Amino acid sequence: PASLDQLAKQVDRLSLDAVAEKYPNVNPSQNPLDLYRGHLANLLEGITGVDPKIIYPQLLWTSGLDKGDFVLAAPALRIKGKKPDELAKEWAEKFPENDPLFEKPVLVNYFLSFFIKGAPLVKSVLPMIRELGSDFGRNTSLGLKDPKDPSQGKKRIIVEFSSPNIAKPFHAGHLRSTIIGGFIANLHSAAGWDVIRINYLGDWGKQYGLLALAFEKYGDEATLKADPINHLFHLYVRINTEMTAEKEEIEKKKQAGEDVSALEANSLDEQARRYFKKMTDRDEAALAQWKRFRDLSITRYKQTYARLNIHFDHYSGESQVLESSMDQIGKEMEEKGICKEDKGAMLVNFSELVPGKEGKRLEKPIVRKKDGTALYLTRDISELLQRHETYKFDKMIYVVASAQDLHLKQLFKIIELLGHKDIADKCQHINFGLVQGMSTRKGTVKFLDDILRDVADKMHETMKKNEDKYAQVHDPEGTADILGISSVMAQDMSGKRINNYTFNMEQMTSFEGDTGPYLQYAHARVSSIRRKADLTDEDLASANLSLLDSPHAVNMVRLLAQWPDVVQNTLRTLEPATVLTYLFKMTHALSSSYDQLRVVGSERELMKARMALYDAAHTVLGNGMRLLGLSPVER
Ligand code: ARG
Repeated sequence: PASLDQLAKQVDRLSLDAVAEKYPNVNPSQNPLDLYRGHLANLLEGITGVDPKIIYPQLLWTSGLDKGDFVLAAPALRIKGKKPDELAKEWAEKFPENDPLFEKPVLVNYFLSFFIKGAPLVKSVLPMIRELGSDFGRNTSLGLKDPKDPSQGKKRIIVEFSSPNIAKPFHAGHLRSTIIGGFIANLHSAAGWDVIRINYLGDWGKQYGLLALAFEKYGDEATLKADPINHLFHLYVRINTEMTAEKEEIEKKKQAGEDVSALEANSLDEQARRYFKKMTDRDEAALAQWKRFRDLSITRYKQTYARLNIHFDHYSGESQVLESSMDQIGKEMEEKGICKEDKGAMLVNFSELVPGKEGKRLEKPIVRKKDGTALYLTRDISELLQRHETYKFDKMIYVVASAQDLHLKQLFKIIELLGHKDIADKCQHINFGLVQGMSTRKGTVKFLDDILRDVADKMHETMKKNEDKYAQVHDPEGTADILGISSVMAQDMSGKRINNYTFNMEQMTSFEGDTGPYLQYAHARVSSIRRKADLTDEDLASANLSLLDSPHAVNMVRLLAQWPDVVQNTLRTLEPATVLTYLFKMTHALSSSYDQLRVVGSERELMKARMALYDAAHTVLGNGMRLLGLSPVER
């Protein structure tokens, strides 16, 4: 960006390239604070005599802008012989009186707080945001295999998320996986990774044999096509009820001493088993039927995912794992002593394989049942190795509820025991807590669509309460839908992933407090100011930014300048709340600006400058919302 380049030119020994070359993962042309840190490290090198490569990573974030933009703890530079307090004092005194970018540091015990000077920041960062637009916040060098040599290509990450089970409810765990996974995928693509989004469907096992039977008995072609998800679910519930009743009946007769062998041989359970056997033996008719269920379900899932701005590169699933590859890995595990026979089944006795408490904690999972069938874990083992072969990923993230912590630990450990520690180390389980009380107003939820529809209806009711504003919205239904989705997503993302939360329709749809609708309101309000101000892009580009000299305006810009850092930091925490918290901080700063930095009604030059500031805020807010997977509204 030209404006940032100009800023660097005002400073001794400073250029965007020099800073980028000196430090790993630092890229001032995408992150303005990198340039500031680069300069500060140069300055402090002169003052302390310490290598700037040691100083740079110690220039940390403060807890709030009132504490400065960066803070350095004197002991972090590991200078022996002097008390940290004295060192800090000495350094503060030696700091130049008239540095072009920084004020003199503020000293608190052995901490030095650095404050960025307002005017040069405003003049460089606002044009930078304007120039980068939707790219502001992206840092595409982070995902490069070798940041110094882009021709080496991008690192590749697989994010596996959502992964619902066909014919079963899309429960809160799937909802959270979808929201969090979509976000983690976006985050990596903003950081320049090559991202592959995989949906690993639950679509295999005896229960799908049972489902096929149910369809033979009670299925209806037209209903299946019109609403596959609900139709399959109802069939599945119905046949399960029947099967349970049948089992009870047989059990009763057995107790009474009757011969039930004929009944058992022809029971639904047994028929399902046989049907599923046909599927695993790759019987054409059976497979074709099952594939229809699967394809129709996927078509519907896709429509729902699109409402959430989510797409998948690949619909994988348990059914896609080949029996032959599981057999092969089973043999290998046996040869390597990883699994052994126990009462006809094959199991992994971790306590004999992994020393200490860890081995005990990993328990004794079965990988092959007595009747020869593979299990969920078995399929995951094959699938993981297959994915590694197909995609040669540098990293793979599984976004799955913490209820499956043990399952994924077992999986990764088995991969390691098979001799693939390198692969296991590339895998990470991103877990999350439960959602309590998720229900629609009509009853318990079954499918994602039900929740989204219900929340959208609720938003629509709220919108209608303000007749004036309602009349101005072009597509009220569409807007209500977006607001509803924002409500659900913001509520999900506002706490740490691992925390449980209670699904609270009233609270999440409120326009007050830190909610999705409030975020949308804040975004739409800036859009509305821009419409009222009626200024062109040229007006904003030519604005005299030195008019933005009030502390309020400068603080707003300091906050905006942090956005690329926030994204980078989130790449470490993988917590959507990191982004959401920042966005709410910004909306609060915005809402307190409106009185002090009025646009409409101000003198024209002031109006242009202030609008340029709000426009940058609009960009950052929009970028943040899109990163989370929200669709920012303009009205
Ligand atoms: N379908 C599974 C469930 O609903 C989640 C799949 C998680 N991913 C995996 N590779 N095991 O519980």
